[in-house]
Amino acid sequence: MASEQDKTSQNISAALAADVLSGVLFGQKLTQSLEAANLDRQSHSTQGAVRDIAYGVLRYRGELEAILGQLLQKPLEDTGTHALLLAALYQLTHTRAAPYAVVNNAVEAAPRKFRNLVNAVLRNFQRKQAALLSAATQTVEGRTNHPAWWVEKLQLAYPGDWERILEASQLHPPMTLRVNCRKASVEQIMADLSSVDIDSRQTGPWAITLDKPVPVGKVPGFAEGKVSVQDAGAQWTASLLDLKSGQRVLDACAAPGGKTGHILEAADVEVTALDVDESRLGRVQQNLDRLGLSAQLKTGDAAHPSSWWNGQPFDRILADVPCSASGVERRNPDIKWLRRPEDIRKFARQQSVILDALWPLLAPGGKLLYITCSVFPEENAQQIQAFLSHHADATRLALPDELGDGQLLPDETRDGFFYALLQRV
Ligand SMILES: C[S@@+](CC[C@H](N)C(=O)[O-])C[C@H]1O[C@@H](n2cnc3c(N)ncnc32)[C@H](O)[C@@H]1O
Repeated sequence: MASEQDKTSQNISAALAADVLSGVLFGQKLTQSLEAANLDRQSHSTQGAVRDIAYGVLRYRGELEAILGQLLQKPLEDTGTHALLLAALYQLTHTRAAPYAVVNNAVEAAPRKFRNLVNAVLRNFQRKQAALLSAATQTVEGRTNHPAWWVEKLQLAYPGDWERILEASQLHPPMTLRVNCRKASVEQIMADLSSVDIDSRQTGPWAITLDKPVPVGKVPGFAEGKVSVQDAGAQWTASLLDLKSGQRVLDACAAPGGKTGHILEAADVEVTALDVDESRLGRVQQNLDRLGLSAQLKTGDAAHPSSWWNGQPFDRILADVPCSASGVERRNPDIKWLRRPEDIRKFARQQSVILDALWPLLAPGGKLLYITCSVFPEENAQQIQAFLSHHADATRLALPDELGDGQLLPDETRDGFFYALLQRV
């Protein structure tokens, strides 16, 4: 039997999760909505439960909406109650929470005038669960938990792989560390992890993937800068840039500094870390402080170098441009619901303006590494093709075999990324 305290905590979690989800249903990012909920006033277990429910609902929202649509005679105008029902349906279908407690909590958390409706909808669901779940798979959104336009784009771009991409996008993302080669070796870190019962495996030259994610504070060596958290798919930057001591490197879209740190761990180079968002640059500084490394931080727009560039060319440029984040959507399951089809064209336009503006800053013979965490070709292969067609002084260099044509698709071990290495001739 759950204690009174547990019951209160479950009750609060359902109501708070519904508040957080309402924010997302109104178009707010999940991270912002979580921040606005001031969860740090709650116990650790409540915070964890709220996050689990909010992330879970967004991961399975296609299916949950399809179920709810069958249970309601007309769409609910009250967004809070709609979110509360999604949260309860998620708990009933995808967690081991006791069904009677889920229903009771949802009814208690609902505004008085919607209590009967919430009760009726959830009890109806319990009675007809199998048929409702089966009918929910009849729509693309219900079956794939992605917007139909997103699925269509993947089908067009990856006729043989789109289902695998969608399946990988529903998985819980792995937690991978990057070992700081200035401070430790992969073997040492794996031994340290094992000594605190964290099982792991090596998934790249400096990458260690944990069997189960743990809070970062529990990772030995994190506070001392021996390791950083970085997906294995993101750990190609330093080797592809082919860094040599003393080179001038521009990290043009640097925040929060994951790749800035990797570049500085790999070589004694002079890094300018630029980002348009001053507050996010603060996170670059924090990351570099933890690693014991330094760069010149600048707030500025990569698309307008005249406002921040001193005219000295760079030997290497990293353009880790803003993008749809479609390759990392499982880490941010709100993204697929908040994006609109026209956003992809807007990102592609923004990326093309940034690339064109950065190119003249590269020294002859210098290399520019273009990266996105997207799987959509408009932001990736097509973007680079278009760039090469109007820059006669640019050549695309081959990548190591493991990277193929540069498009990494998400799977159990890594997220989706795109890499293109360009050289100025
Ligand atoms: C994909 S994130 C970069 C991640 C980072 N390289 C890392 O590894 O931690 C893209 C960054 O580009 C920044 N950004 C967006 N537009 C920009 C612009 N016009 N100029 C410079 N930075 C920009 C965003 O603020 C964001 O921090």
